[in-house]
Amino acid sequence: MSAVAAQRLGLRVHILTPEADAPALQVASSATIGAYDDPDVLRRFAEAVDVVTFEFENISAEGLELLETMRPVRPAGRILALSQDRIIEKQSLEAAGLRIAPWKPVHEEADIDTAVATLGLPLILKSARGGYDGKGQFRIRSADDLACLDHGALPYPMVAEAVVDFARELSVMVARGTDGNCRTFAVTENHHANGILDLSLAPAQVTNDVAADAAALAMQLAVALDLVGIMGVEMFQTSDDALLVNEIAPRPHNSGHWTMNACLIDQFEMHVRAVANLPMPDPSRFADAAMKNLVGPDAMALCPEILQTEGLALHLYGKDSARPGRKMGHVNLIFPKGGLPGLFGIADALGPLAAL
Ligand SMILES: Nc1ncnc2c1ncn2[C@@H]1O[C@H](COP(=O)(O)OP(=O)(O)O)[C@@H](O)[C@H]1O
Ligand SMILES: [Mg+2]
Repeated sequence: MSAVAAQRLGLRVHILTPEADAPALQVASSATIGAYDDPDVLRRFAEAVDVVTFEFENISAEGLELLETMRPVRPAGRILALSQDRIIEKQSLEAAGLRIAPWKPVHEEADIDTAVATLGLPLILKSARGGYDGKGQFRIRSADDLACLDHGALPYPMVAEAVVDFARELSVMVARGTDGNCRTFAVTENHHANGILDLSLAPAQVTNDVAADAAALAMQLAVALDLVGIMGVEMFQTSDDALLVNEIAPRPHNSGHWTMNACLIDQFEMHVRAVANLPMPDPSRFADAAMKNLVGPDAMALCPEILQTEGLALHLYGKDSARPGRKMGHVNLIFPKGGLPGLFGIADALGPLAAL
């Protein structure tokens, strides 16, 4: 989707991917096929491009650092590296002065007891590296859960986090240019199912103060990290309107997909503008929006009906097999500005998708 946005601006897109059938190749003008950490591949790739960015986090941060010696890489490899490791990520969030849920690093079995003693129960163990869509997470609700942990199967290193009794999950997409100026998109409210984002609503139905706090916090972090490009900042809104940052994603983010049909400049174009050193005007949101993810084969089976239903904007990613739990695409629904209905109204408008 970043490649499509870049092409719309007249830029040509060259993809580096280890997969000869990667979906991005369907919308790019050229490619280097090879490993993300192979120095020869990276050199060939660098020679073919003016500037490097990424849309996907499971790539080699060391590879990005090598690319940085040859071409500008935006966002920088060190920002990807910190987002890939929850321990470093949490330390960086705290260093930037942001509030996060109480946590402890967990390198071995004994650290779990320390975490339980300091954080109490319930808590969540999360693998420090490689987790996404709720994968690599273990909830410990009780002493029984603790006793039943299969220590041999736990993906150390991990973090232990207190479970936040949140009122809402929010996210902000913040983009920052090479000149240091930031743009944010409307604060988004996110609902998950089985650890996977299911529904995003924009703007989040929060007070102006909370929305302003969320945007300010995202910009504070973008500045602290010296970000160039776009970043998703996930946060929990507590019942007393405090905002705790959950995690960051230094790339276009699933919770920003609604911008594709509700803003003149969507998150992908803003990202491309930031990394290509182009002007970054206000995104000009002209509508309220809801985004429903299409996950796995059941959702894909509804595509013929979605195509026939008025008011649903379908976006498919060109992935070949619809395995259960795999994000295959999403649907955007648009409402007049200020007219976002409640969850029941949205379920109505979702038509065939409401059952998912
Ligand atoms: N500390 C927490 N308290 C309550 N819910 C949490 C906590 N951490 C994660 N969750 C829930 O699990 C979801 C996925 O966790 P997250 O840390 O965002 O990992 P990822 O998105 O990388 O899988 C969150 O969006 C939230 O719904
Ligand atoms: Mg998340």
